[in-house]
Amino acid sequence: MELVLRKLNENDEQSFLDGAKEWEDESLSWYSFIWKPGMRFQEMLSSLQKETVGIDLLPGRVPHTMLYGFLDGKIVGRVSVRHELNEYLRKRGGHIGYAVAKKFRNKGYATEMVRQAMGYCKQIGISSIMITCADGNIPSWKIIERFNGKLEDRIWDEEDKEMIRRYWITFSSYRSNANL
Ligand SMILES: CC(C)(COP(=O)(O)OP(=O)(O)OC[C@H]1O[C@@H](n2cnc3c(N)ncnc32)[C@H](O)[C@@H]1OP(=O)(O)O)[C@@H](O)C(=O)NCCC(=O)NCCS
Repeated sequence: MELVLRKLNENDEQSFLDGAKEWEDESLSWYSFIWKPGMRFQEMLSSLQKETVGIDLLPGRVPHTMLYGFLDGKIVGRVSVRHELNEYLRKRGGHIGYAVAKKFRNKGYATEMVRQAMGYCKQIGISSIMITCADGNIPSWKIIERFNGKLEDRIWDEEDKEMIRRYWITFSSYRSNANL
């Protein structure tokens, strides 16, 4: 079954609500930054659309697109694409962040979602993609290194009290990986 990474549309309400159930014992922000139980789906769609075009952004937020990974009608995870970096994202967050629900992990879905997200980054003119992850998040940095991410540095994140890795992926380094 082919994984498709795309924006949500008005036909996705049930898939979205079903997908949210997979995050009940983890932070919901891994699934959605906007939606909370009880929020109308249409309201979320319109907020997502505004974020994508950069209207009514909250302080400290940059234009952003949320893409969801669909497999056979089910949402397995999401990728958040920040269209530009600010001071905060440069330190932690970078251009893209991703998450896959527990029951779908370790099947290559995050790797595939990141691969497709890079195509989206290219479309919107990001040629050099920054990705950060916790030093101990082995699956996450394996994904980044699979795409030939170059480690810029490891820095201490005072907010979360952990070491984080900051990587850059360029389209030329990504293409040179024959396995992708
Ligand atoms: C990080 C995360 C997105 C990975 O999703 P996933 O779909 O399981 O990832 P994949 O199946 O594509 O696996 C990626 C790599 O990690 C490896 N991997 C997966 N789970 C692993 C584990 N528990 N321990 C070690 N390696 C693991 C895979 O073998 C694969 O490596 P390979 O390409 O060398 O085979 C997922 O664990 C998650 O959502 N975690 C919570 C949110 C998060 O941490 N997001 C990243 C923020 S930077």
